[in-house]
Amino acid sequence: MRRGSIVTLLGIGVITGGLAAAVALLLPWLPHPASREAGRIDFVFWFVIAICIAIFAVVVAALLYSVVRFRAQPDDHEDGPPIHGHTGLEITWTLIPTVLVTAIAIVSGIVLSRNDAQGSDALRVNVTAQQFTFTFSYPDAKNVTTSELRLPKDRSVELYIRSKDVIHSFWVPEFGQKIDAVPGLVTHLHITPDRLGTYPVECTELCGLGHALMRSQAIVMQPKAFDAWLRKQEQPVAASAAPVSGSQVFAQNNCASCHTLTAAHATGKIGPDLDKLAAYAQQAHQPLAAFVRQSIVSPNAYVQPGYPANLMPQTFGKTLSKQELDGLVQFLVQASKKG
Ligand code: CUA
Repeated sequence: MRRGSIVTLLGIGVITGGLAAAVALLLPWLPHPASREAGRIDFVFWFVIAICIAIFAVVVAALLYSVVRFRAQPDDHEDGPPIHGHTGLEITWTLIPTVLVTAIAIVSGIVLSRNDAQGSDALRVNVTAQQFTFTFSYPDAKNVTTSELRLPKDRSVELYIRSKDVIHSFWVPEFGQKIDAVPGLVTHLHITPDRLGTYPVECTELCGLGHALMRSQAIVMQPKAFDAWLRKQEQPVAASAAPVSGSQVFAQNNCASCHTLTAAHATGKIGPDLDKLAAYAQQAHQPLAAFVRQSIVSPNAYVQPGYPANLMPQTFGKTLSKQELDGLVQFLVQASKKG
């Protein structure tokens, strides 16, 4: 091969490789990782991308060079010269992919096994998915239950994920991993958050009308702040007979993802408009407070026309304490009287 041809091939390769690398590096394809596992997964991703860019550059260089250099003249109807196999070339194009694919397999294997390796003193968190909300509880801390996932930085976290109704999927993009919540199964995810901040928790399995609104937050805190927060949550609030704030219960159970209620700045459109509870109670021929309580505990007893049945979770009678239920009913009755 002439020296000029090699320079041309190299030139095309460097330019196309450079362009592909610019597209890969200059656009924000991936979220900034917030867990060690996501960092390792990103490493595998970029490792594979680098190999792809190199192969792309070689192929495009050979292609463009051949199109120009070996182009047939307009009046040339001859066949090309007969060519038999080239042993050297065949060995080369078998060996290189073998080495690359093996390298990818080894790197992926190392990352998978390190991502699954649980650190000492892991924190257990139970994640419960239901239409259309996530709840999180901490079995090592008297089963404290929250609607946001709070986690300490730099500590192994074992998430045990369950569903109460249909298939959902738990995903925090910055943590780099997704896992389905399947009724009847307990699925498992291991993460080690390594960056402070607040990240979205999203359901990524089409689970019904409220799927798009099935969101929560993951908050990564300093370990000391996390411990203090958890200890505070452990204080037996429900055990005392003190009234529970209904607006808090409303927020903790993500009622706002389905319902509109001005008093709670809620704008959900899937379930009945709670600003109109007084009118609904009249339509159902029931006193307001009794109607509100029944609608929370057994939502199918009366379904407001125009809204789907079986969508409101039928579990609140079990999951809310008596104080929480009383507080929520009182809050809704007062809010709808104002509205
Ligand atoms: Cu739950 Cu989509």
